[in-house]
Amino acid sequence: MPTITLIPGDGIGPEVTRAVVRVLEATGFTPAWETFSAGAGAVDEHGTTLPPALLESIARNKVALKGPVTTPVGKGFTSVNVGLRKALDLYANLRPVANLPSVPSRFQDVDLLIVRENTEDLYAGLEHTVVPGVVESLKIITEKASTRIAEFAFEQARRRGRKRVTAVHKANIMKLSDGLFLDCARTVAARYPDIAFDDRIVDAACMHLVMHPERMDVLLLPNLYGDIVSDLCAGLVGGLGVVPAANLGEGGVGVFEAVHGTAPDIAGRDIANPTALLLSAVLMLEHLREDARAAAITSALKQVLASGHVTPDLGGTATTTSFADAICRTLIS
Ligand code: NAI
Repeated sequence: MPTITLIPGDGIGPEVTRAVVRVLEATGFTPAWETFSAGAGAVDEHGTTLPPALLESIARNKVALKGPVTTPVGKGFTSVNVGLRKALDLYANLRPVANLPSVPSRFQDVDLLIVRENTEDLYAGLEHTVVPGVVESLKIITEKASTRIAEFAFEQARRRGRKRVTAVHKANIMKLSDGLFLDCARTVAARYPDIAFDDRIVDAACMHLVMHPERMDVLLLPNLYGDIVSDLCAGLVGGLGVVPAANLGEGGVGVFEAVHGTAPDIAGRDIANPTALLLSAVLMLEHLREDARAAAITSALKQVLASGHVTPDLGGTATTTSFADAICRTLIS
């Protein structure tokens, strides 16, 4: 069994993490967990949101499961998520977005895989004042990073039996930057004749997504559009509370996390919904080639959701603990 870095996080983080670890272990997946605090929880003890021992642990183990964390606001601390991405070069953000039973949503049959480039674009943070009243913010797009993320998208598509990758861009206006991103995607696409490829301009892609999301498959986006479109897509299936995510780097490094925050309004009450973190753990199992366990958990989760034994955010009366118990029972039945 592997050793996995565990970051329970703040607020509801420890509650949902406990539930997810229990479900994982009910499948017989019993790794050694190296547990660390991060974010606000780490500041008192370590004076930083990202203790060096945590980064060393992830670099060593390659895989981490992370609950939501609070980044102290206005005190000069780096966001944990941004810090992790930079320190570990987690260049790919992967978000499957699909309907789940008992989760109210405006659309059915949504089954998207969103691949977002995580390291460059306008997020390079290169901004300056040219003259008072005029600022420049630099959009960095490189052939290397664009090719790397396109290869990642096609590899994921192939591994997951997907049919089509759509590159999303604004190359009609940003001919050089988005043009380079699109050219790299086209070049990589030519090496994957088994997977269809097309492209859409970001505004048209958004309209298509909110009209016919079921017609789209894998989306490949540069950082900024990826940030916006991935939340839009979460909204298509019921919101951030039910969507998993992974941040992946070279050499098999991966940090698997829920997309929602620490939910301070419900923390400590055993009513948080662990679905998003559980689906992130499913991504982690797939990453570790534990496909049978991943499929078993997905199936048990869907059965319990379909039974109506759901947490209050989905209109039910289940607790975090009883929801996890029901999944564990389904797994061993
Ligand atoms: P939030 O996602 O924590 O909460 C928004 C609403 O969704 C709240 O009503 C909350 O109760 C509900 N909610 C969220 N997750 C839920 C779950 N699993 N089950 C049931 N209900 C759930 O967003 P908010 O309030 O903007 O942020 C709170 C804190 O979380 C902030 O300190 C923020 O920095 C942090 N945060 C951390 C993230 C991360 O570590 N990945 C991501 C987003 C926010």
